[in-house]
Amino acid sequence: MRELEGITARSLPIVARAPGKCILFGEHAVVHGGPELLLAIDLYTQVSIRAAASLSLNGDKDPRAHHPYLGPALDRFGPVPPDLQIRSVSRIPRAAGLGSSAAFVSALAAALASSGGGISRAALAAESFAIERAAQGVGSPGDTSCVVAGGLLSLNVPDGEALWEVSDGARNWPVARLPDPGWAWLVAYSGIPRRTGDAVRAVSERLAAADGPTLLERFRSVALEGLDALRAEDPERVGRLLDQNQTLLAEVGVSHPRLEALLEAVRPAVYGAKLTGAGAGGSIVALPRPGKALEALRRLTRVGAAAYSVRVAPSGVELVEPGPPA
Ligand code: PMV
Repeated sequence: MRELEGITARSLPIVARAPGKCILFGEHAVVHGGPELLLAIDLYTQVSIRAAASLSLNGDKDPRAHHPYLGPALDRFGPVPPDLQIRSVSRIPRAAGLGSSAAFVSALAAALASSGGGISRAALAAESFAIERAAQGVGSPGDTSCVVAGGLLSLNVPDGEALWEVSDGARNWPVARLPDPGWAWLVAYSGIPRRTGDAVRAVSERLAAADGPTLLERFRSVALEGLDALRAEDPERVGRLLDQNQTLLAEVGVSHPRLEALLEAVRPAVYGAKLTGAGAGGSIVALPRPGKALEALRRLTRVGAAAYSVRVAPSGVELVEPGPPA
């Protein structure tokens, strides 16, 4: 396995940032062991921590009560007592399926772990997943591994450059890096917030039906073909497979009329498009045709979406504005 550069030790104050992510193929199926492909995107969340008389998050003096990820992160890494002033700023829309929670968790965990002596990237991926799982109850380590590693990643795919394996005690998810073709993508938020846990539970019930194994097999084959098409740098084929993955997601019940409206609006300007993340609201990802990215953005904006042109974020979570060495 390749050893990525870890998060080094620093003294407070510490600032860390992490990218958002979008899922190109295989969401939901990944929870049940299926292959998934994810892309870290260049919208970032930045978290800063500094010593203070008492705990606060963006001015909130009782943040454990209001922020589900904070308690588990402080319990794993925080100083005791956790007298920290924590601030976060983000360009990633929240509850939109674009990795805002994973980016917050991993940037906060990186900053806390840095003040405690540093951490390897593999351990940070495992810890960030444990924090997200403690708050969310269900799900895979795809989002957290993606924002920790950066780049184009796979879960549950045997080839690729192995990075690490994350476990929840019941299942192991191998994580690998894939060569990124360097394309520009579009993501667009429908404005309908959703809860990942609720969608994951609903799809899990759907997949427990008699045709569940057949559906999972179809998710698997679309994701593996998608991997093949990305490796071949064939955007037309990737686009067709994005559309096929969308059909499957609609079949398991996580599309939404607003998502369908966005997909319909953008179709003439893209090779293909699908919802990304848990669905039931949230966002879409689309691969624009050459010279059509601006038209695609306009089409999405016209139907009320918050649309972004994004590129891969190659490096994952990192410390910024380094303080004095510890
Ligand atoms: O909507 P998001 O960004 O939380 O993505 C969820 C992806 C799922 O496969 C539906 C769940 C998971 O944890 O993998």
